[in-house]
Amino acid sequence: MTDVYEKLATIFTEKFAVKAEHRFFSPGRINLIGEHTDYNGGHVFPAAITLGTYGVGSKRNDRKVLLYSDNFTDQGVIEFSLDDIKKDPDGNWGNYVKGVILALKKEGFDIPNGFELVIEGNLPNASGLSSSSSLELLIGVVLERLFDLKTTRLQLVKAGQAAENDFIGVNSGIMDQFAIGFGKKDHAIFLDTNTLEYELVPAEFGNNVILIMNTNKRRELTDSKYNQRRSECETALKKLQTKLDIKSLGELDNKTFDENADLIHDPTLVKRARHAVYENQRTIIAKQALIDGDLEKFGQLINDSHKSLKEDYEVTGVELDTLAQTAQKQAGVLGARMTGAGFGGCAIALVDKDKVDQVKAAVGKAYLDKIGYEASFYVAEIGDGSKALD
Ligand code: GLA
Repeated sequence: MTDVYEKLATIFTEKFAVKAEHRFFSPGRINLIGEHTDYNGGHVFPAAITLGTYGVGSKRNDRKVLLYSDNFTDQGVIEFSLDDIKKDPDGNWGNYVKGVILALKKEGFDIPNGFELVIEGNLPNASGLSSSSSLELLIGVVLERLFDLKTTRLQLVKAGQAAENDFIGVNSGIMDQFAIGFGKKDHAIFLDTNTLEYELVPAEFGNNVILIMNTNKRRELTDSKYNQRRSECETALKKLQTKLDIKSLGELDNKTFDENADLIHDPTLVKRARHAVYENQRTIIAKQALIDGDLEKFGQLINDSHKSLKEDYEVTGVELDTLAQTAQKQAGVLGARMTGAGFGGCAIALVDKDKVDQVKAAVGKAYLDKIGYEASFYVAEIGDGSKALD
């Protein structure tokens, strides 16, 4: 098999008639537990994976940016000038590049020249493994390398989030960009989204692996529903603040929440806030269970997380429920849940290495029977964060 970088270098020369000078990689991510907690000041526990976005690029002498993706060949070469950056209403992938450039410029970084970039990703698109943050951080390391920007990792992470929030228009939290920017091989990242303090925890699952199960359902309408959940939590927080001195739902323990939930009045909003509070507490306990090697407990918390995302947060849907709930019933599965924003995308399961084929077959069959099209499966490998290779 040709090395992906050789392939991209060939395309690069074909398209731009010059040589690609540098190689880049940016991963995707899974989230072990701590879902929809990042914009509620809670904890998350994600990890970067070895699937991701590859790129080769070179600096230009003028102010033009030329982009080509081997995944979106129909979009051809996307071209714009650094002096005229506007969002493309067609929503092509160049918007992510523009968003990151603008975010870094806003932070005072000078991007003196344009560049050429060819990319290809092996993250399934819109699968909840964060292909968009993978791209944002790829652009971050491209700009850092090509123009020798003196950025910190956190600045690149925040630029990725700013691109998503301010340019693309999705009000997402910081989890994805953080996991992708700070990823470390064989480690999960326990992040307090309130303080941005984090701890790298060895992702040691004994004789088990993390199986990614893809619904192959595109996450349509995700963005509006995502933003809606976020504002529901904000409204619930305001109601709680009429009595409690808190800045985020992440500050509450389960008991204090239960004692004060009446303040919220609206039963739907109570459910949303309860998920945010309970999920945060589950994440803290799950991290300790992993450190203690108590995988049974870790798996149970993963199952509880799915239930709460289904019943209280209502972001799963029949496809993710079929995958997670079928997996939960299989011998050799310690736990299963949706991962990422939800509504489609992927679920993960903690599975005995020797039972992976059996689990894939059983879950795959149940999924096809119920949903009418196939799910896909990949064993996750936990890898490093975004980087320039040379
Ligand atoms: C998406 C967002 C993240 C996070 C998750 C849900 O992946 O980008 O910030 O909110 O959903 O946990």
